[in-house]
Amino acid sequence: MTQIDERAGARTKHGGDVLSVDQVVRTFGDFTAVDGVSFRIEQGETYGLLGPNGAGKTTTISMVAGLIPATSGTITVVGERITASSIGPKRHIGLVPQDLAIYPELNARENLSYFGRLQGMDRSDLKSRIDEILELIGLADRAKEQTKKYSGGMKRRLNIGVGLLHRPQLLILDEPTVGVDPQSRNSILESVERLSTEGMAVLYTTHYMEEAERLCDRIGIIDSGKIQAEGTQDELIRIVGGVDKILLRGSGDLDAAATALGGIEAVTQVEVERRELRLDVKDAPTTVAEVVTTATSAGVSLADVEITRPDLESVFLHLTGKALRD
Ligand SMILES: Nc1ncnc2c1ncn2[C@@H]1O[C@H](COP(=O)(O)OP(=O)(O)O)[C@@H](O)[C@H]1O
Ligand SMILES: [Mg+2]
Repeated sequence: MTQIDERAGARTKHGGDVLSVDQVVRTFGDFTAVDGVSFRIEQGETYGLLGPNGAGKTTTISMVAGLIPATSGTITVVGERITASSIGPKRHIGLVPQDLAIYPELNARENLSYFGRLQGMDRSDLKSRIDEILELIGLADRAKEQTKKYSGGMKRRLNIGVGLLHRPQLLILDEPTVGVDPQSRNSILESVERLSTEGMAVLYTTHYMEEAERLCDRIGIIDSGKIQAEGTQDELIRIVGGVDKILLRGSGDLDAAATALGGIEAVTQVEVERRELRLDVKDAPTTVAEVVTTATSAGVSLADVEITRPDLESVFLHLTGKALRD
């Protein structure tokens, strides 16, 4: 009991960081897979490691979860050092690996019950916990089916349930939506959002920009074992200094339209090229209506309107010179 109180104290002292990763390096022979990675995650915060295959995401979380030792650097979870031989601090962590670890002959409830007892959970506590989890992962109505009949996505959801059984403070998910059906994908994203609202710290790896944008409070863009940039989505987009663009295609007096469009306050630049008007604007979604009206009033007959906004993909491209998905 005293120990638990001390740990709670330690947590406050560490400024609310559930996870702190400091200058972590991992080499395999003379290859450096993770090259001085640092980041922090607070309670209730979802942190995304966004990067392509081979970036070092799985190696990083394997060290955080204490599955493999770091070559150098420090990892602290709820104020306790994590090493590959530490056992205690691992109770704070729920790891959902990419490879599935469930028994196909057992149903969802039996799988959860098995893993719960393996973790030494109390039988009476376990039953209500399993009900909670089945509801959270959206498998309550399929809980009695053998898991070998499950879709890949349902198995992945059950895997998340297993990771949550012991009420960890940090949930780590390694590309949890790769290869799953759209319904399960959505269910997984919703579960993560709900857990986050309830105060869970989440470490989420992905190479899908849309998932990082939707889920993550802060994102570390990782490539070649290094975090190339870190911040909220808005902060990252500011790095590229990207502006929204509106492209108008049509016929008529484009030059007259260009002059009129230049008079709109949110329009910072107008270019005319053949049958296109290309605009740099401050906030495309709120400006587009006025842009269309102005162009039309100036005598342009529009065939097409296109909005592009800078996104994490453009940030990644700017930082690394390559695409997130090749
Ligand atoms: N056990 C290992 N031995 C040698 N190289 C490895 C090992 N594990 C990972 N790597 C290499 O480290 C790099 C990062 O891998 P990984 O962390 O799995 O990337 P990601 O999860 O971002 O796709 C890759 O080049 C991979 O081939
Ligand atoms: Mg991986």
